[in-house]
Amino acid sequence: MSESTTVSDIDTIQESFAKRIAALEMETKSLEEELETVKVEREEARAKLFESLITNKKYVREVERLKKENAVLRRMPLFLATVMEIGEDYVLLRQHGNNQEFITSAPPDIMHKLEPNTRVAINNSLTIVRILDRSVDVRAKTMELIEAPTISYDDIGGLEAQVQEVRETVELPLTRPELFAEIGIEPPRGILLFGLPGTGKTLLAKAVAHQSEATFVHMSGSELVHKFIGEGAQLVRDIFQMAREKAPTIIFIDEIDAVGSIRTHDGTTGSAEVNRTMMQLLAEMDGFRERGDIKIIAATNRIDILDPALLRPGRFDRIIEIPMPNAEGRLKILQIHTGQMKIAEDVDLWEMARETDGASGADLKAIAVEAGMIAIRNGRSSVARSYFMEAIKKVLGEEELKGDERMFT
Ligand SMILES: Nc1ncnc2c1ncn2[C@@H]1O[C@H](COP(=O)(O)OP(=O)(O)OP(=O)(O)O)[C@@H](O)[C@H]1O
Ligand SMILES: [Mg+2]
Repeated sequence: MSESTTVSDIDTIQESFAKRIAALEMETKSLEEELETVKVEREEARAKLFESLITNKKYVREVERLKKENAVLRRMPLFLATVMEIGEDYVLLRQHGNNQEFITSAPPDIMHKLEPNTRVAINNSLTIVRILDRSVDVRAKTMELIEAPTISYDDIGGLEAQVQEVRETVELPLTRPELFAEIGIEPPRGILLFGLPGTGKTLLAKAVAHQSEATFVHMSGSELVHKFIGEGAQLVRDIFQMAREKAPTIIFIDEIDAVGSIRTHDGTTGSAEVNRTMMQLLAEMDGFRERGDIKIIAATNRIDILDPALLRPGRFDRIIEIPMPNAEGRLKILQIHTGQMKIAEDVDLWEMARETDGASGADLKAIAVEAGMIAIRNGRSSVARSYFMEAIKKVLGEEELKGDERMFT
């Protein structure tokens, strides 16, 4: 019995060993399989890595190529443009010179630095290549607009009442601001001079600037429109900015009709540009209300075509007409312009003043110069009456002729 028990025990043990071995064999087999997959996977990864290395190399080469291309593009002739508008992924530019607007894009590092009115350089394919340093550029340009006039009130003939009014409104607030503070009124900021050509508007503005020792910034409306095409509004902003820095300043806007005329509102790009300049001007004029040390003198000989917005009360404190000189005024103007001349005994300036009805200050100056020229031509060392008479005929005769010509053009 015991033997059989032993035999059966051994059988059981053997059986269980066999089972274990079988299980272990299974395990080994599955481990072997797993190893195989891992090996395959490793191979795959290695292949992928290799592939990436190749692509990487390709990209590095591409970057190098683009860098070179970029450098070449930067070296190509560049054009100047101003940013008008910035969108999510586009920039609206206006090109200087031809005044064309177009939409383009910029590399991200440039894109986020752009703001409206930034000046940029663009290449042939109208891509923004770089941002221009504003300060240098604008300074250089506006420096041309600053003058130091040497005209004094004594150089103006006639116009006593007008000179007086201009002095009150422009010079006094600059030289004696405390007077206005004491009384508690806001000092006037700007005046508009209007009158026929050659009557002394520019002359008067220069005299005020000289007399009040203010910085004189001279900008001409027609230059803003024709010379600084596409930059008018920006330039207006710069001029006022500079005026603030160099205060006290008199800003003289000659020929304001070129920017502020109603006739330009015809919807063309050109007129849109002019209007932008004009809007900027109005904004600047309204904007420096609180500062007493910048004054505006504007001049026009076409007040009839000026935009009513400019003439609205509050824009210009005074609108002053500069009239053609009467006989007395003409005498004074003649005295001024013949002051340095050697005049013969027989010359009677009063007679000449009477003879020159309808002549402007500029005409009278031209007459004096012309009389002097005739004297030189005749080899004389002084200017005789007859030379003046000849000069009057020439200058005023020409004027009439010019008037006729104008009718035909
Ligand atoms: N009242 C004046 N007294 C002395 N000179 C004068 C006078 N008016 C004009 N002149 C002479 O004529 C020149 C031209 O005048 P000015 O440039 O001031 O005219 P304006 O009124 O500005 O003309 P425009 O409307 O054409 O700009 C002056 O430089 C000056 O020599
Ligand atoms: Mg003038």
